[in-house]
Amino acid sequence: MNLKNDLILRAARGESIERYPVWLMRQAGRILPEYRAVRSQLSGFKELVETPERAAEVTIQPVDLLDVDAAIIFSDILVVPEAMGLEYQMIEQKGPWFEQTIRSEEHLKFADANIDIDDRLGYVLEAIRITNKELNGRVPLIGFAGAPWTIFCYMVEGRGSKTFSESRKLLYTNSALAHELLGRITDVTIRYLKAQVKAGAHMLQLFDSWAGILGTEQYAEFGLKYISKIVDAIDEVPLTVFSKGAITSVEAIAKTNCNTVGLDWNMDVVAIRNLIGESRTLQGNLDPCALYASEKEVERQTVKMLDSFTSKRHIVNLGHGVYPDIDPEKVKTFIKTVKNYELRY
Ligand code: CP3
Repeated sequence: MNLKNDLILRAARGESIERYPVWLMRQAGRILPEYRAVRSQLSGFKELVETPERAAEVTIQPVDLLDVDAAIIFSDILVVPEAMGLEYQMIEQKGPWFEQTIRSEEHLKFADANIDIDDRLGYVLEAIRITNKELNGRVPLIGFAGAPWTIFCYMVEGRGSKTFSESRKLLYTNSALAHELLGRITDVTIRYLKAQVKAGAHMLQLFDSWAGILGTEQYAEFGLKYISKIVDAIDEVPLTVFSKGAITSVEAIAKTNCNTVGLDWNMDVVAIRNLIGESRTLQGNLDPCALYASEKEVERQTVKMLDSFTSKRHIVNLGHGVYPDIDPEKVKTFIKTVKNYELRY
């Protein structure tokens, strides 16, 4: 199907663009009353994720209501560990919780890499197909997965954590087990992402939300090694690597075969552009908290970020997911400011 707006794909490939494309991480859900209305008709988050028609509906909401340049499929990174054998619950106000965790070799039976993707994750693929049919080419659809290190963190810890110390402990006490588990997650993730592309995803993003808790050397060994494998296996569509907090690894990330490097708000766009040159697109990176400011200030902060760009190779986004209590009007101001900004490159 022909895309009416392929700006984000061109920006990812470093091709010419008329203006910077813009979307928001976590745009599907949370901030929109229209999302909460759909969610309240169902038993909870998981039912929404697992019901393709409704998942497609909330995927399209930000395209209709916020006028973003891309949709991101409504799902979660935790569908992968679940497909491998670790069931999770999403507990209201608390977040994910796994009854079983992976802490020793005998637990590896709950981390099965030999799974049939269509069988276990077919509901996501169906949501992608329905979304594209309903979008009718208005904007590209982004597919995604968690990066192996972040998925490993949830499989070992069993829940969110400030330090993920059980996960980091395993790197020192049983690195062979850690590599085995990371390898299995990587295998499944490659097949899952390829299936998303086949179902219709125009672009992919890897979320490494917990990259920043590892030192540079450990991130190279337990994080980037597996990200590289994934990036090398995907040549169908542009791919973004978002390694939150991995400031000292940005150069190494840019050296993988990804198209786009996602930046969090602590990362300095100018310094990173100088470091990596023009060969990769940068995505980001307004502080999500900037959207709590007045409309005038949101505008000012957004223009300040745009003025720091010295290249056309940018996809505008926040430096992390949009916070649940942000006023959608502020999001609209952010998006409008990006769309009205005159490109200098
Ligand atoms: O970006 C989008 O809008 C698409 C959907 C999406 C969700 N989760 C839906 C969701 C995406 C891309 C994710 C990614 C995700 N999930 C990450 C990586 C990005 C990041 O924020 O760092 C992580 C770490 C998770 C795991 C997860 N899912 C947690 C820790 C939680 C609870 C806390 C929270 O963020 O709300 C979730 C739940 C979740 N995933 C919600 C949504 C809309 C909220 C559930 C609800 O509706 O109550």
